[in-house]
Amino acid sequence: MSSRTPLIAGNWKMNKTPSEGAELARALAAQVGTESAVQIVLCPPFTALASVSQAVDGTHLAVGAQNMHDKASGAFTGEVSAAMLRGLHVSHVILGHSERRSIFGEDDAFINRKVLAALEASLKPILCVGELLSEREAGRTNEVVRVQVEKGLAGVPAGKAEQVVIAYEPVWAIGTGKTATPAMAQEVHAFIRGLLSAQFGAETAGRIRILYGGSMKPDNADALLAEHDIDGGLIGGASLEAKGFIELVRSASRSLGG
Ligand code: 13P
Repeated sequence: MSSRTPLIAGNWKMNKTPSEGAELARALAAQVGTESAVQIVLCPPFTALASVSQAVDGTHLAVGAQNMHDKASGAFTGEVSAAMLRGLHVSHVILGHSERRSIFGEDDAFINRKVLAALEASLKPILCVGELLSEREAGRTNEVVRVQVEKGLAGVPAGKAEQVVIAYEPVWAIGTGKTATPAMAQEVHAFIRGLLSAQFGAETAGRIRILYGGSMKPDNADALLAEHDIDGGLIGGASLEAKGFIELVRSASRSLGG
């Protein structure tokens, strides 16, 4: 295990009303609200950010959004800005999730503008990258991930690079129950760290967290988190129930001892 503080983030996707979200957040706060060895970030839908922020106030749990627009304000119906998120005590924002890329047509240039706008507003971007099954089968995983990382992080000042979190989420593993093996994930994570090193230098790259996402569950987390370059998880399905999510936090905590 490395010196990086592990990060476990729950991406609730389009689940939980404001009251359901607050209930889950309170249950998590009661059990892991004082956890300091692992950073924990809850990412509810926009409509539950306020109630979840309130529920975790005074605990170590942080709150993230699942998306934002890069502009500060204006005629962008249906969108929210970084400052609006900051106003709800949001510290992180997931950007470039594969569902945003595939369902909503977001491209690397748009995602890059959001990354820069998030950093400008002191929000920590969780930049998601990952290949489709067809791309993996064609031997194109590294090429696809390289383009997403390089374009996504273009223009990020070295001084702010440590604020960035990368999430490697192979698209074929998301919500499918299929996980990358620890060795497969580690290979891509090490490749990503090499890209970060080329852009920001080895020391800074060594401090950036790279999360794994894609059917991460309590029964596969220990093995994934034992890998040197896997610094935590971005959890979908297993973040919707307190019990499973807490087990993942415990896994991350155990990985520090190993
Ligand atoms: P699952 O954990 O449900 O596979 O989702 C992963 C994900 O997309 C997190 O952003």
